[in-house]
Amino acid sequence: MKPRLLFLGPDHYAAPWSAAFSELAPEIAFEIYRPGQALSGYPYCLTWKAPKGLWPQMTDLKVVFSLAAGVDRLLNDATFPRGLPLVRMVQPELTRGMVEYVLWQCLYHHRRVWELEAAQSCGEWRPHVYPAPWDRTIGILGLGELGSAAAAKLVEFGFKVRGWSRSPKSLPKVESFAGCDQLPAFLSGAEILVCLLPLTPETRGILNAELFAHLPMGASLINAARGGHLVEADLLPAMQSGRIVAATLDVFETEPLPEDHPFWTTERLYITPHNASDTDPKSGAWRIAKQIARFESGEALEDVVDRARGY
Ligand code: NDP
Ligand code: OXD
Repeated sequence: MKPRLLFLGPDHYAAPWSAAFSELAPEIAFEIYRPGQALSGYPYCLTWKAPKGLWPQMTDLKVVFSLAAGVDRLLNDATFPRGLPLVRMVQPELTRGMVEYVLWQCLYHHRRVWELEAAQSCGEWRPHVYPAPWDRTIGILGLGELGSAAAAKLVEFGFKVRGWSRSPKSLPKVESFAGCDQLPAFLSGAEILVCLLPLTPETRGILNAELFAHLPMGASLINAARGGHLVEADLLPAMQSGRIVAATLDVFETEPLPEDHPFWTTERLYITPHNASDTDPKSGAWRIAKQIARFESGEALEDVVDRARGY
């Protein structure tokens, strides 16, 4: 009998994932969740969050696969099964997309494109001066799968790159800072600050007034991690004071960002709709099928979330 995998993701993802499993992993019985259906008999599920009250009904579940790299939505659900392995999404396609996004936004802030736009809007030919990349320091909060790949690309472009993580890292040409004690020193040189942390109880609200006060005047902020990292009420004062000159936000406390949110109309605040990067269903289906085969033959799963750390 084929191993059964229940898809509990958003409707618009169902068709591409279903097609990917039929093409690349026909050995898996991929089934899309229908409200009201019986939920026993599924050893595997693929999701990023489930409708309320559903987890306790999944009595035969053995492994949960996350559609996303970040698993905060799942772990924040008090009914989410605690004892089962949770495998998060790690794939080269997702990483590539994030590297592209970080590079795009870092170059935008490095070149202060808003100054060119302002000149163009009044028909002025106004060449502006900006430093060479080796005179610009970019700081990355989080040096995991995504942060370390983004750091490597920025190094390749000649930027000075520093990163902050829980444990010290040794990455070529990336200055490593670790732990709360080293956070102020890390921030003091970060002219462009990129957040690629997982959302955990320790990192919730980390992008706040106190942190901003450690940044150099005129810094830029790029948050591509989770809306919960940013204390939204602290950003506009930091921008008004000039501490932060411009920001790009891909993620928000409430998504979609409400129509009347002040961020929509704040100058030099650039919004992308939580699509810095996206999982590729074909690569995802292939990888999940491999993981199921490993699990069924008694081998260890990869990319399992450490529940104690929360990522
Ligand atoms: P990883 O788990 O691979 O890396 C997390 C990094 O953050 C690690 O370097 C870790 O340190 C560090 N970290 C975690 N907690 C702390 C802490 N308390 N203090 C200091 N450093 C800490 O995650 P990924 O790189 O795969 O993904 C990061 C996040 O990006 C995801 O959780 C998700 O929220 C977001 N994301 C957003 C997307 C989008 O489209 N906007 C797409 C994909 C992901 P250490 O290495 O020492 O453990
Ligand atoms: C993720 C995301 O965590 O897309 O993968 O936000």
